[in-house]
Amino acid sequence: MAELTYLLDQTIAIAKEAGAFIRKERNEFDLSKVEHKGLNDLVSYVDKQSEKLVVEKLAALLPDSDFIAEEGTMGTSGKAYTWVIDPLDGTTNFIHGIPSFAVSIGLKHHEEIILGVVYEINLDECFYAIKGGGAWCNGKNIKVSKAADLSSALIGTGFPYSALGKIDDYLAALKSLMSKTHGIRRIGSAATDLCYVACGRFDGFFEYNLQPYDVAAGLLIVQEAGGEVSDFNKGTDYLFGKKIIASNGHIHNAIWEEINRFWNKES
Ligand code: IPD
Ligand code: CA
Ligand code: CA
Repeated sequence: MAELTYLLDQTIAIAKEAGAFIRKERNEFDLSKVEHKGLNDLVSYVDKQSEKLVVEKLAALLPDSDFIAEEGTMGTSGKAYTWVIDPLDGTTNFIHGIPSFAVSIGLKHHEEIILGVVYEINLDECFYAIKGGGAWCNGKNIKVSKAADLSSALIGTGFPYSALGKIDDYLAALKSLMSKTHGIRRIGSAATDLCYVACGRFDGFFEYNLQPYDVAAGLLIVQEAGGEVSDFNKGTDYLFGKKIIASNGHIHNAIWEEINRFWNKES
């Protein structure tokens, strides 16, 4: 545990350094600097340089580790430790000047996430956890909410924008949840969404087509805050499975029931 605590402190410092770089670049940023990776999938030199900074520092911190990082750093040679990194989660917000974006760094040991750091840059909020050590934000212990039913719940989600094949199923579930909950929010940074479940701002969150680097850190932070994480089958395939439900635990089944009613598994 002592070694993991050291790794956590160093990872927090690295996430904040990348965050400071992103914050500085935002002041100079304009739309001419945007590149397109795919349908509505935007990127810029800021994402890439943030990744370079984070990967170089983490490789020095833990030399015998693999990487899964959004902007292309991949080294999956079967090592015990893998860093799973989103160097800028919330790129569309960043590009449009909407102040909600984060750096997300998870550490996987074999099949299990054991460390997670999400640094939300605009509010200067650093969320973090190590396995078995609780969940924290800026030095304060955080817990999921106590909401016991959907009628008192605020739910986060992400709207589909590239994998549109399931959009009708998604919208049907969303419509049903809209009428049964306090409300729905779309922040635009899945890592931040998960941390908002962990600290009780959201009571639940669901999204499909997410990648491992969107969720690796945040899912551990939710679990360590006392919450529940599953895929759309109530199973554990949420890191690589592209579908995630995260909640305070009390309303997990109710969210799953709404999704399951409309999610056509055959299409
Ligand atoms: C995106 C954000 C967004 C989610 C998308 C992600 P990016 O990540 O997390 O909230 O809805 O699915 O791709 O591209 O900004 O790193
Ligand atoms: Ca992302
Ligand atoms: Ca990203």
